[in-house]
Parts: sequence; C-alpha cells; structure tokens
Amino acid sequence: MPRVLSGIQPSGQLHLGNYAGAIRQFLDLQAAQHEMFVFVASYHALTTQRDPAALRAATRQIVVDYLAFGLDPAKTAIYVQHDVPEVTELAWLLSCVCPTSFMDKAVSYKDKLAKGFSANVGLYTYPILQAADILAPQADIVPVGKDQVQHIEITRDLALRFNHEFQTAVFTIPGHRLAPDAEVLPGIDGEKMSKSYGNTIDPFQEEKPLRKRLMSIKTDSKGVSDAKDPETCSIFRIFRGIAGKDDPRTRDLAAKYADPSRHSPEGFGYGHAKQALFELILDHFGPARSRRAALMADQGYIDQVLKAGAGKARAVAQITVQKARAAAGL
Ligand code: TYM
Repeated sequence: MPRVLSGIQPSGQLHLGNYAGAIRQFLDLQAAQHEMFVFVASYHALTTQRDPAALRAATRQIVVDYLAFGLDPAKTAIYVQHDVPEVTELAWLLSCVCPTSFMDKAVSYKDKLAKGFSANVGLYTYPILQAADILAPQADIVPVGKDQVQHIEITRDLALRFNHEFQTAVFTIPGHRLAPDAEVLPGIDGEKMSKSYGNTIDPFQEEKPLRKRLMSIKTDSKGVSDAKDPETCSIFRIFRGIAGKDDPRTRDLAAKYADPSRHSPEGFGYGHAKQALFELILDHFGPARSRRAALMADQGYIDQVLKAGAGKARAVAQITVQKARAAAGL
C-alpha cells in the first residue's frame, strides 16, 4: 500500500481552506486503506509563533480536529512533529546537500516576509524541515493544497540530490496529490484563506458568530436582481470548495447567480448566498461538530492517540535516519 504523509501548522485554528485542500484528501486516502501518517507541524509554526500558550493550545486543538473530522488512529498515525526528533536530525542531513538557491526560490518565504514576518533562519530553511517530514517515513504521496506544491518539488529535488551525492537509494521520491477540482479557497476578504491573515472561516465556530462571519464576506456591489459572476465571488468559491463542483446544491447556486429570478421574483442577492453557505456548513460539518465536543472532554484519549502515533512514526523514521547516516559516512 502506498504511504501517505501530510501535516498542518498549528499557527491558528483550522479553517475551511485546510479542509478543502488537505483534510478531505486525508479522509479519502484513509478510506482507500493507504498507510497514513498525519501530523501537526509544531516546529514549522515556531518559525512565526511567539506565544507559547497559543502554540500549545493550537497544537492540541488540531489533533482534536483531525479526530473530529474522522481520522481514525487505528488507521492513521497521528502525531506531533516535535515528538519525532528523528525528523530534525534528518533535516540537518538534508540541509547539507541543499543549495541555498533552493531556499532563495521558495515563494512561501517571500510571501511571509511580504506579510511582515521577521526573516529568521528557521523560516528560510522551512522547506528542508518539510522535506524531512516527508522523507522520514518514506512517503509516496503527499496530499496538499496548491500552495504547498513547490515545497513537495523541493522535497523531491533534495531526495534526488542526497541519493545522487551519496550514491545511494535511501530516499523514496514522493509526489504531491491535489484534491479533485483543487483550488485555493479565498478568505472573507477575497485573499487566500490563511491562518496568518486573519481572514479564515472556522467550520467549528458557534452558529451565531459563524453566521456573522459569513455575512462579512466581501463581495462586489451587485444588487439582488443583477446577474452575478460566480467565478469571481468568494461566497460561491467557498461553497463549491465544500460541497463539490458536481453537487446539485452547487449547480443550483450557480444557476441563481446567472438568473436571480430563479430564486424568487425579487431576485437572489449575496445575503441569500451567504445564508446558503451557512446552511451548507452546518449540514456538512454537523457530525464533526458534535464529535469534537465529545473529544474535547477526553484529553486522556488524545494523549493516548499521540503516544501511539509518535511511536509508529518514530519506528519508521529511525530506520530512514540510520540508512541516511550510514550512506553519508556517519
Ligand atoms: P498549512 O498549515 O498552511 O496548510 C495545511 C494544508 O491546508 C492547505 N491549505 C489550503 N488549501 C486550499 N485553500 C486554502 N486557502 C488553503 N490554505 C491552506 C495547504 O495547502 C496544506 O495542504 N508547510 C505546510 C505544513 C507542513 C506539511 C509538511 C505539509 C509541514 N510539513 C509535510 C505536507 C507535508 C503548511 O504550512 O500547511
């Protein structure tokens, strides 16, 4: 069975973009009986996070959310990055074959600087640590959103380089996997939905603030009776990202954008579309929302899950690191 690895940074609360780009794929691949490794990228978050309590809480919360969405610890090793120290050792081995030009071309670093984050070395070499995450368990498939594809390409380049420079076949060469119809989900301001940009939608938010949040999605100023372009509308794109392109509700929404009188003689405005998105979120995430409440109350179970997950991840990572050290003459 192919091995799958992916992770999410605990730089804030999980959002609809993470779900549409990544988590939904984790669930599909788990259902397809792949050998799964899914983790929380705590060391990656440390490149920008300076509030220890917030980092601790977000790390824990993402684990709870993984479980609430339906990741099953019997099928998927769920762990926290800093519980698998072999990964940081591997990151060093990889950094020694990594030309600085690989990091210079990484767009995520430039994006972070443009957003005002400080230029620390951890942020600069971030893709090397990500490569180590992926190569440690010898993953074949890395399910991610589009914004992460360059990091997986860097991972492939580093694996090939290490294998070549040390005349070895230590590393499996991984490939990325995008969700079917993958697109980068916009946030409430129309920019990429991102934990660090303050524009996210949280599928677990209480109903009242969730509705308020959705009502604040930025739109153009077209009125209820005007035809609207779904492709340039964040509400529609988020809706499609959750329901799916071929879902009848998505088709119905697109039809109402094109011809608002299909909804009622008065028309169909952005307020109606936001209400439809609200209902979709409550429906789609209903089971996960109730599971989450129960999981939050059982922290002992979360500890058990993480211990078992880290055990599985370390067992495979230790083999890889041993091979890589030996290949390099250590
Ligand atoms: P992160 O935490 O930014 O995002 C987690 C996953 O969610 C996807 N994603 C999106 N997809 C669609 N629309 C959006 N608006 C959106 N925002 C985020 C991301 O593509 C990602 O798949 N560097 C990674 C974490 C990481 C990792 C890894 C991932 C560390 N090591 C190893 C895979 C393999 C990151 O910051 O993701």
